[in-house]
Amino acid sequence: MTTRKPPPPEGGRAGERGSRTRKRLKSNLGWSTADRIVVQGHDLVDLIGNTSLGDFAFLELKGRLPTPEESTVFNAIAVTLVEHGMTPSAIAARLTYFGAPESLQAAVAAGLLGMGSRFGGSIEEAARTLQEALGAAGPDADLGEVARDVVATYKKTKQPIAGLGHPIHKAVDPRTPRLFAIALENGLSGRYIELIKLISEEGGRAYERELPVNATGAIGAILCELDFPWQVGRGLAVMARAIGLVAHIQEEIKEPLAAEIWRRVEDEASEHNRNP
Ligand SMILES: CC(C)(COP(=O)(O)OP(=O)(O)OC[C@H]1O[C@@H](n2cnc3c(N)ncnc32)[C@H](O)[C@@H]1OP(=O)(O)O)[C@@H](O)C(=O)NCCC(=O)NCCS
Repeated sequence: MTTRKPPPPEGGRAGERGSRTRKRLKSNLGWSTADRIVVQGHDLVDLIGNTSLGDFAFLELKGRLPTPEESTVFNAIAVTLVEHGMTPSAIAARLTYFGAPESLQAAVAAGLLGMGSRFGGSIEEAARTLQEALGAAGPDADLGEVARDVVATYKKTKQPIAGLGHPIHKAVDPRTPRLFAIALENGLSGRYIELIKLISEEGGRAYERELPVNATGAIGAILCELDFPWQVGRGLAVMARAIGLVAHIQEEIKEPLAAEIWRRVEDEASEHNRNP
């Protein structure tokens, strides 16, 4: 009996070596020839001088330039995320630069590694919570009930509710009302924003403390209104904070803090051993 080889998957072809099949390589983001660079269907030379960095980021992610309203809202998000002072991420970048001053990119990368579920990266979890909750609930669902379910689920798993609370901005994160106002003014305030506000109210009741929507919760909700997948939420923080971290390294070069931070931490952390 003879056995037949299965046909290669669509778009692929049988590999020349062994039996591995190869997927056809394909990307639509950009391509170039000797005299042209095309990004998402636009000539890069036409975009240079005419397109803001925020609009270009939107184009990269969405495959089209934003409307004026989307542009205002998306740029507001990007601006919000660039800088928040001497955060753990900025300190990590500065200390890494102290050890490897030849490598600015390693310092920035070290800072970006801290964009996780506690700071910055919580955009992703907030957007995911909202998209999954509204996706499961359907278009006519009572948002108050959806909010109660979300809070109950977080409480059961003993996880902090993504997008709520802040170590400094205890009662109100000043960035949040501004972002929500900009979304409303630009016709981009809908059920996602309504839901995160209700989750904040419900969370405050359930945990008996103020749990305001922080900037990452507001941005997570607005990204949902802009119809971005939750999976890129953290990427927005990474993109914007990279700008801030380069500025931290520039300041570190002119006015270094890293050695002093190291000395003070070392003094205090081991003081009990030196002076028992
Ligand atoms: C940002 C964060 C780490 C600050 O936490 P913190 O420094 O402990 O803040 P607080 O001192 O105000 O917390 C006080 C209490 O509220 C609780 N709390 C804070 N944020 C909470 C949240 N989102 N959900 C549930 N409980 C929360 C803390 O667990 C703590 O409880 P405890 O006293 O029983 O231990 C925290 O709010 C959090 O994890 N939020 C979710 C992630 C997020 O959105 N991060 C983005 C920040 S910009």
